[in-house]
Amino acid sequence: MIGVDSSAGMLAVCAQRAREAGVAERLDLRVGDLRRPPVDERVSLVTCPFRSYLHLRDDAERLEALRAARELLRPGGRLVFDVFTPSREDIEETHGRWIEREPGIDERADWNLAAQTLTLSVRGREGASTMMLWWVQPARWHSLLAEAGFEVLECFGWFDRRPFTGGEDSVWIARRK
Ligand SMILES: C[S@@+](CC[C@H](N)C(=O)[O-])C[C@H]1O[C@@H](n2cnc3c(N)ncnc32)[C@H](O)[C@@H]1O
Repeated sequence: MIGVDSSAGMLAVCAQRAREAGVAERLDLRVGDLRRPPVDERVSLVTCPFRSYLHLRDDAERLEALRAARELLRPGGRLVFDVFTPSREDIEETHGRWIEREPGIDERADWNLAAQTLTLSVRGREGASTMMLWWVQPARWHSLLAEAGFEVLECFGWFDRRPFTGGEDSVWIARRK
């Protein structure tokens, strides 16, 4: 399995977890950008988990990433990724408030509904960080996938394969055309 992330620190965490799980020798970790992945190999599965595509700021970047994923796939290969689209209730409930997400880790979401951006701040014992995320509606993901040369096979509402019924989370299974 080849793993790509632009953060060497995140890859170090990945390597540590792989050692703990006894699968380190099966991993090949590479620092790089998901829009231009440092991968010459062709594979049957590309997965971009845990909403990483929300780091892409506009359709041009989304298309670049989806086309790059397609380039890595053998014909008929699959792209699997998850994203979210916040509900109005979630925005109203969380906007501008520090909320404890895990013991010792607080999170604050500042939503901009017009721009469809989320400024997410996280603070814990080891430090604090702020990042920006950009979301789009599921229909947009559907058309971007088509434009990038994918056929959507499934869109689930969660990792347990429950059907997508318009909730916040969507898990996409797409096949390279
Ligand atoms: C929510 S984390 C998911 C991390 C990891 N893939 C996982 O499944 O646990 C999003 C990751 O995307 C990475 N990232 C953000 N923009 C990126 C880009 N343009 N190219 C590659 N990685 C990127 C961040 O460094 C971060 O590790």
